[in-house]
Amino acid sequence: MAQLLITGGAGFLGSHTCLVLLEAGHQLLVLDDFSNSSAISLERVAELAGVPLQRDQPTLKATLEAFTLVEGDIRDTQCLDALFTSAKAFGQPIEAVIHFAGLKAVGESVQQPLRYWDVNVVGTQRLLTAMNFHHCRTIVFSSSATLYGYPHPNQIPIPETAPIQPINPYGASKHAAEALLADLAGCSGKPEPIQASSGGWRIARLRYFNPVGAHPSGRIGEDPNGIPNNLFPFITQVAVGRRPELTVFGDDWPTPDGTGVRDYIHVMDLAEGHREALHSLLNSDPQLLTLNLGSGQGASVLDVVKAMEATSQRAIPHRIAPRRPGDAAITVANPTLAAQQLHWRTQRSLTDICRDGWAWQQDNPNGYGEACL
Ligand code: NAD
Ligand code: UD1
Repeated sequence: MAQLLITGGAGFLGSHTCLVLLEAGHQLLVLDDFSNSSAISLERVAELAGVPLQRDQPTLKATLEAFTLVEGDIRDTQCLDALFTSAKAFGQPIEAVIHFAGLKAVGESVQQPLRYWDVNVVGTQRLLTAMNFHHCRTIVFSSSATLYGYPHPNQIPIPETAPIQPINPYGASKHAAEALLADLAGCSGKPEPIQASSGGWRIARLRYFNPVGAHPSGRIGEDPNGIPNNLFPFITQVAVGRRPELTVFGDDWPTPDGTGVRDYIHVMDLAEGHREALHSLLNSDPQLLTLNLGSGQGASVLDVVKAMEATSQRAIPHRIAPRRPGDAAITVANPTLAAQQLHWRTQRSLTDICRDGWAWQQDNPNGYGEACL
């Protein structure tokens, strides 16, 4: 059992991972500024885990219990210092950080590159500075398959050694944060995905493919602001009648049915991948791990439409439109290294993803927006 700091823990991926980590017996301190989430997700995680959610200040007035929430910004150095200092003062030093906090919308990053670099790069740098000062040198970082840009057809499924070629400010900010982590580990410029690290740093850079779905309870799930950019939440909103139709971005891609192919990974598989990465880091010599988290299976846009139609027993009206700028034809992970290193692989199918995502959408048609606890 470890005392963990979870940045961005109220968000989509963070909330599901908090549940898995609580179930594994860890003590969690969540830091979130709620810029893209609300505390309702964590209230529900607490309910599912059967523990109370304590709310506190960065200066921590009370001993940390199983699950504590502090509202704050990862760029706020005083807040970070207060958290590490007061956890230590209560005899509960933070042993490791799972760093989800960040901005993730590609289109928005093109409009607001300074904001993306500020939160994703400066925020990460300040977090690492506080960790370093307080001798907490274990971190699991949320990276993204977006780093692979337009992967070469010869490199599908994509290994971790594929060229890194971000094609938008969001991807560039993740690349910069990954580079900073490699510098800290003393591994600058070395391409190997598993390397010994110097200075005591234990680091996992997890490159997620397309995380979707929800916890099977239907109590927590993805709650995008406004019109979803991503396929899966858009489809569930069409199925539930919140949007009239899906626009399919291109049916002339070099794929079996002409629509884009992606590697969709159930959010609970992803959350379990974090648990395994954390345990691997805590139980090994200092190292820098760079791992894809994906299923290794590709599904096209029309595959996902059909799977959701079967699950929901509703037609999903859709129309073909031109390709979306910045899209790749196919991105599918080679997940072999994560399987070898973490003894982890995805357990859940596209059918499971649709079942759980649909249950969440039906029970929460407006996300957490009008939710009662
Ligand atoms: P999310 O927006 O649901 O969660 C991010 C959380 O971070 C939110 O709760 C938000 O309020 C918080 N946050 C944002 N800026 C903050 C700040 N300055 N200080 C404190 N908290 C802050 O996103 P998510 O889907 O859960 O993604 C989590 C991480 O995974 C992000 O770093 C994202 O870039 C990365 N990622 C996500 C995906 C995906 O498809 N969801 C894919 C690849 C990588
Ligand atoms: C997008 C981001 C990527 C990010 C990932 C996070 C872009 C260009 N890329 O990836 O950087 O890491 O989300 O999950 O935004 N589609 C439709 N209609 C829609 C929405 C999507 O046809 O309304 C298609 C897309 O063209 C693509 C597939 O569905 O072929 C998946 O799209 P999406 O869910 O947005 O994910 P990515 O494009 O993989």
